[in-house]
Amino acid sequence: MMGGVEHMNTESAPESPGQSRQLLDNLLLIEDFLRYGVRSGRRIEAEDGALGFGDSSGNKGNSAEGDRQTRLDAIEARVRQCTACVLSQSRSHTVFGEGVTSPQVLVIGEGPGAEEDRQGLPFVGASGNLLDKMLAAIGLSRRTNCYIGNIVKCRPPNNREPTPTERDACIGYLRVQIEILKPRLILCVGRTAAHSLLEVNDAISRLRGRTFAFEGIPVRVTFHPSALLRDESLKRPAWEDLKQFRTLMDSLTDSPLQPSRNEE
Ligand code: URA
Repeated sequence: MMGGVEHMNTESAPESPGQSRQLLDNLLLIEDFLRYGVRSGRRIEAEDGALGFGDSSGNKGNSAEGDRQTRLDAIEARVRQCTACVLSQSRSHTVFGEGVTSPQVLVIGEGPGAEEDRQGLPFVGASGNLLDKMLAAIGLSRRTNCYIGNIVKCRPPNNREPTPTERDACIGYLRVQIEILKPRLILCVGRTAAHSLLEVNDAISRLRGRTFAFEGIPVRVTFHPSALLRDESLKRPAWEDLKQFRTLMDSLTDSPLQPSRNEE
């Protein structure tokens, strides 16, 4: 767990990089409490030294697979301990994300549902089944070339939409995941994911069909699979979105992806 205020040593100056990071962490924690009343996930970006983004000398961590996994594991450990918003009080498990560590595509949903909360994995309920099929149709799978994450890592009670405060408290974790994973493309499924990541407020009808950018990474938006389960008529336009996404994907990759088997 990140050092709490009660662990801060106010008697002496920090002696090691570890102690400096601890001090910085504690100061950020105090600042967040004073400003927002909670620890804001956004501030995690500032803690890059501790997470392998490089040190104060400007050295960047290497991007080998094992290193990525280690850094993801470090963030996941923080997420498991996180109490930055009220969602932490009712969760059974945090849901960090799942997939390969050098993904072609990062898929971002809203937040865990009941089954995800039980298993600690993203998109494993009914909408997850559909999402896997949608991805397979354009050659993507969390087992081979894709990573799946969410805006919030804990289940909102009764599957309600996460509040702006909850999203703000959590989005920093996703930002760090993106920095580590470096996907070629991002697919936001649903309005909440798009609004939170892109900081826009348009209806989904105005977000579909456009290419946005997040930190230089192209981002497309389509319907959330739960919406398709509720309203069959959205399946055709969603398929159009996916075909466009696939075309964009092929235009960015040297060797176009082969369709993956639909792994039932
Ligand atoms: N819906 C989401 O947005 N994310 C999940 O992980 C599951 C359902």
